[in-house]
Amino acid sequence: MKNRLGLVSLALWVLTIGVFAFFFVRGTTSVSTDQRRSVNLSPVEKDLVLGEMRTMLKAINGMLGALSDGDMSKAAEAAASAGMAMAVDTSPILMAKLPLDFKELGMGTHKAFDDLSSEIKKGATVPQVLVKMHQITNRCIACHETNRLGSITPTFDGLTAQFAFHRWDMPTAPGLNGKNSQ
Ligand code: HEC
Repeated sequence: MKNRLGLVSLALWVLTIGVFAFFFVRGTTSVSTDQRRSVNLSPVEKDLVLGEMRTMLKAINGMLGALSDGDMSKAAEAAASAGMAMAVDTSPILMAKLPLDFKELGMGTHKAFDDLSSEIKKGATVPQVLVKMHQITNRCIACHETNRLGSITPTFDGLTAQFAFHRWDMPTAPGLNGKNSQ
């Protein structure tokens, strides 16, 4: 009996790990209207990811400004502002929703900012920094070309929008007209 309980809990444990591993690799995705992969998140998680994105754009902008002023320490500081430190507070649930390759590309980009910041501090020249910035922005483009963000939590608004869509799509559908005509 004890043995059986042990087996059941082991099976449940393996199942839980298995489900987690499945989502960790695949994330929660679907195909979007423009044929990119839609990474589906809750509204709060989406805001968090988009906030990170804007920080990275700001970092690139800050770096270009500093480089054109010839201010290398400010350029290093701007690069570090989009480094790994800004990504550490990401929740495990969000991590499970992002596909593995998305996480790798995203984390690799934060690391590239950190690496570039330390190279600038070690005395990299402006052309050397520009080569690295070009490589970093190639990563931005690669990810944006294949991914977009979508929502998974059906909100009340979402449901009404869907309902409205069906009404619009099939104005003569039986039941809908009768029930909803004003
Ligand atoms: C791992 C994937 C990934 C990487 C790498 C990435 N992005 Fe994004 N980014 C996204 C996704 C997905 C969106 C949402 C796009 C959509 O839904 O159409 C986005 C959106 C954005 C937005 C819009 C933000 C908003 O508030 O709407 C900006 C700006 C942005 N990214 C900048 C960047 C910059 C700059 C880089 C590189 C330094 C970068 N991103 C790298 C995935 C990525």
